[in-house]
Order: sequence, then C-alpha cells, then structure tokens
Amino acid sequence: MNTPSPLSHAEVEKIRREFPILQRKTASGAKLSFLDNAASTQRPTSVIDAMSECYLRYYANVHRGIHTLSEETTAAYEEARKTLANFINASSVQEVIFTAGATASINTVARTWGDQNLSEGDVILTTIAEHHANIVPWHQLAERTGCKVIFLPIEDDFTFSTDLVKEYLERFRPKLFAFTAASNVLGTKPPVARWISLARSVDAITLVDGSQAAPHETLDVQQLDADFVVFSGHKMCGPTGIGILYGKQQLLDSMPPFLGGGGMIQRVSVEGFETAELPDKFEAGTPPIAEAIGIAAAADYLTRIGLDRIAQHEHTLCQIADSGLRLIDDVEVIGPHPCDKGGIVSFSLNSVHAHDIAHQLDSLGIAVRAGHHCTMPLHRAMKKTSTTRASFYLYNTPEEAEQFVSAIEAVQNKFAKTGRRRRSR
Ligand SMILES: Cc1ncc(COP(=O)(O)O)c(C=O)c1O
Repeated sequence: MNTPSPLSHAEVEKIRREFPILQRKTASGAKLSFLDNAASTQRPTSVIDAMSECYLRYYANVHRGIHTLSEETTAAYEEARKTLANFINASSVQEVIFTAGATASINTVARTWGDQNLSEGDVILTTIAEHHANIVPWHQLAERTGCKVIFLPIEDDFTFSTDLVKEYLERFRPKLFAFTAASNVLGTKPPVARWISLARSVDAITLVDGSQAAPHETLDVQQLDADFVVFSGHKMCGPTGIGILYGKQQLLDSMPPFLGGGGMIQRVSVEGFETAELPDKFEAGTPPIAEAIGIAAAADYLTRIGLDRIAQHEHTLCQIADSGLRLIDDVEVIGPHPCDKGGIVSFSLNSVHAHDIAHQLDSLGIAVRAGHHCTMPLHRAMKKTSTTRASFYLYNTPEEAEQFVSAIEAVQNKFAKTGRRRRSR
C-alpha cells in the first residue's frame, strides 16, 4: 500500500482558515485549541455554505410537492444519499438510510431486526469498550425479548484479543455481534474485517459502530462485508441531527419499519398500511433535509483532502501527545500504543480529578473532554470513575499537541505537592 503524503504545515494552515470558529478565543481570552473532536467536530465553510444555500435558495419539503422548490430539494437530498453511498462504497443507494445519528441508527436495528429475530436465550455479543449507544439498546432489547448481552473484555494493554473473540463466538453462538470500529476512549481499533469474517463463520449478524472511524478512515462496507454500519454527521465535520444507517439490502428488506408516519408508506387505509420500499421505509416523517445536504458536503470535503492523509496527520499528533504524557510523573495513559489506535489520547493523573484538569486546560484555551465519555462499563472495568481525553482532527497542529502536553505538565506541577515532576527522558 502506498504511504499517503503527510498534510503539510501550509495545508493545515489552509484547512484551519476554512474553519472560522478556530479563530476565536475562549472565555479566558486564550487562543482556542479544540481537542474535543471525538465528542463533536467543527465544520468548514463549505458545509455551512451548502446548508445555507439550501435554506436561502431552494428549500422545501422532499418527496411531496409538485413544484420547483420541492423538486430541487428532493434532487439535492437524493444526491446527498448517493454521495454517502459512495463515501462508504455501498452497493446501492437503497442501503443508505438517513437517521438522526448513530444512536438512532442502532436503536432502529434493535427495534426492527432485533425484535424480529431475537428471543429468550439468544445472545448478543458486544465489547466492554462500547459507547452507551451500543449497549443500552441491546439491554432494552434483552428486557423485551429475554435475550442476553455478553461483553468481551479488554486486555491489560487496552487491545482486544481476536483469539478471545473467536472463543466467545464459538462458545456463545451469538445472533448479533455489535462492536465499535474505534473506541471513543481508548482509541483502540479492532481488526474489523477479520472480526466480521469470524462472526460470519458462526452465522452471527454484525453491526459496526463506525462513529469514531468513518470521520477518520475509509470504511468500505463491501470490503468489510459488514451487515450494518452506523455513524453520525457531527463527528465528521457535518451537521448535528443526522447520521447513517447502512444495512445490506436483503437484511433491510426483511426488516419491519421502525417509526410509522408520512413518507414510509405506499398506501394507508382505515384497515392498515402498506410499507414503502427502501430507503423510504425507514425514513418516516420529514427527514433532516439540510442536514443530509450538509453531511454530503462534509463527506466531499473529507474525500477531497483524503481520509488516509487525515488519519496519518492525526496519528502524528497522537504520537506527540501520547509519548509526551507518558513522560510525566503520575500520568497513566489509558489506551494502547499510538501505532494501534486512532487520534485519541485518554489519561488519568493521580490525585487530580478529570474535571479539574479540564478546567485548568480550558483556562489555557484547550478544550478536552473529562468524565466517563458514555462508557461507564469500560470505566468500571478499568476501576476508574473518569478520565480526561484529548482527541485530534485534521485541523489540529503539532504545536497544539505539544502545548497540550506542556499544559498537563503544568497541571501536574500545580496539584502535586511533593516528588519529582517529570521522568528523565
Ligand atoms: C463510539 C461512539 N458510538 C456512538 C456514539 C453516539 O453518537 P451520537 O451521539 O452522534 O448518536 C458516539 C458518540 O460519542 C461514539 O463515540
């Protein structure tokens, strides 16, 4: 495979100018360093312009009106679906459902495929490192059907053992294996294609939570052979309120609709209703129209720059932050070596609460996330109540990664009462 050319300093500076919000200062008057991208990213002007253009020039409801604005909006909405289908290499646009986000996508699968196919005694396999969005819908499904949710543990080095995956698949014979393509806390990236093929060998359906992967690397759903893949627009430079549910056509066709209402029917009578074809079947009500146009503009933007180059850039920043943090006394980096993870660095600092760290960093203009990051089972397994997380994206710079490390060192100096502050290099 060819190594992608790194994003040059000049390119990153140009990218930064495309994100006007990055020019602002924080409440303390400090220059903003936005390192909270795993929670939600910022948007470039091309995304904001595409959405403004929709509202300013042609907006109307889709699939309904026989008039110019509705036809133009419908064309733009369906064009957005094509862009997303290309973004993940779906074999047809019917396989791309617009939802309100990754959470809504997972809930759709749980309420439709899950309710239809699982019953008492069946097993759903997932991992302990999942976001609550990929846990709670399965607990709810278990409450409704009597099925069981089994959690794959994490290894001491914060990676997963594929041998254990194989063992669990053979031992529990799950009907569904739902796992994240990249942990939002550890950054750990399992071998997705391998896990899917192992799941297939025991006839398990797979759901890949691509929320932390799709914004950073190519997710080719055909190459992966995934059954379901979900992700959100707001984590990939797109708008909030929109996400994708990819599903293999045969599966989506076999599933009942989730929400009922306008748009998802062929016909309604006093006796009942007939469901529309894909993808409309899963898009009841007025969909997030400008948001679909926005997520397509975001996919175009990321594709223009190159996801492989973005991933490489984040990897460089992650390496600076990760290796710098490991040199500070009392810092425990929570996650594997940078080679085995995406652009996320989580850590804890002995005797300093994560919220205090985040407050201190905010006073320096650095935005990070502190808490359990919607991964309480993972934190419990690690015997932690909270961690601090820095997450990088294409517009972050090596200087920001270095400044972040220095800031943590300053926090450590401020809070620690005794002892040497930094290990010798
Ligand atoms: C790994 C992962 N999955 C799912 C979600 C849920 O995404 P959303 O809140 O956009 O539905 C998140 C959000 O942080 C996430 O990081």
